[in-house]
Amino acid sequence: MNDIFDFEPRVDDYAVMGNPIKHSKSPQIHAMFARQTQQSINYTAIQVDTGGFRQAIGNFVAHKGKGLNITVPFKEEAWELVGERSERAELAGAVNTITIKDGNLFGDNTDGVGLVNDLKNNYQIKITDRRILLMGAGGASRGVLAPLLNEQPDSIVIVNRTVSKATALADHFSALGNIQGCGYEHLTDRHFDIIINATAASLQGELPPLPDKLISKSGCCYDMMYGKQTPFMQWATQQGVQTIADGLGMLVEQAAESFYIWRGVRPNTGLVLNQLKKEIYS
Ligand code: ATR
Repeated sequence: MNDIFDFEPRVDDYAVMGNPIKHSKSPQIHAMFARQTQQSINYTAIQVDTGGFRQAIGNFVAHKGKGLNITVPFKEEAWELVGERSERAELAGAVNTITIKDGNLFGDNTDGVGLVNDLKNNYQIKITDRRILLMGAGGASRGVLAPLLNEQPDSIVIVNRTVSKATALADHFSALGNIQGCGYEHLTDRHFDIIINATAASLQGELPPLPDKLISKSGCCYDMMYGKQTPFMQWATQQGVQTIADGLGMLVEQAAESFYIWRGVRPNTGLVLNQLKKEIYS
């Protein structure tokens, strides 16, 4: 006979959806967060075929899943699909975090806050009043612009191979602060405190055409990619820049923000970041 004591509480299900997804660190990161904060969750990685995103979401909702992280290439489709969005997701035009409640989907974007928290808390980089150069005008740039501008930098220059995309993106965010778009040829004799690489160049082992003397030694160069030294990080080393960062901290910080949205608790990101650094870089 079943009685109340036989009842096993259901563990809340979460997942990351993307393609490819095999190498995603998110299941490991969220498992570490859950252990640390004594939250009982199940977090898996789901590979979704092109054209199958809506169906995959429908299946996850039908199985009473509680939340999703969305990664490449589905963040824009997720933005279109959710019923409601946070302001930062609205501006980013992309959703990386979905919360499911009573079958309704709420979309958020934690990428930008992940970058800001990594710069400020893990690298002690001040963003306020600083001159920022953001390389690239695709989804990765768009996703971080509102949280960066929220820190009230002196200025943000978006530089891109296709200049029209840089100026269009700058126009889109112009109400939030001092922001312009330009091409790489316009960078000569300019000077920045923070350079962020949000291009896909690192993935191709390439370096965007940056002039010398763009940044001083006390500045910060940040590559959103992680896993290995990128040509941009090597360039920063040659320029003598002291603070050179890759995107591993951003990955952990955006995950922490998602975890907070879902569970209402903030995990200790430093412990998780150290663990991942050990596994990846030693
Ligand atoms: P994501 O969503 O990751 O931002 P995306 O929308 O394809 O991807 O954007 C990639 C960005 O990297 C673009 O700004 C692209 O420049 P273009 O708009 O001119 O194509 C930039 N990019 C890609 N490869 C690059 C390279 N080798 N050097 C400089 N910029 C590059």
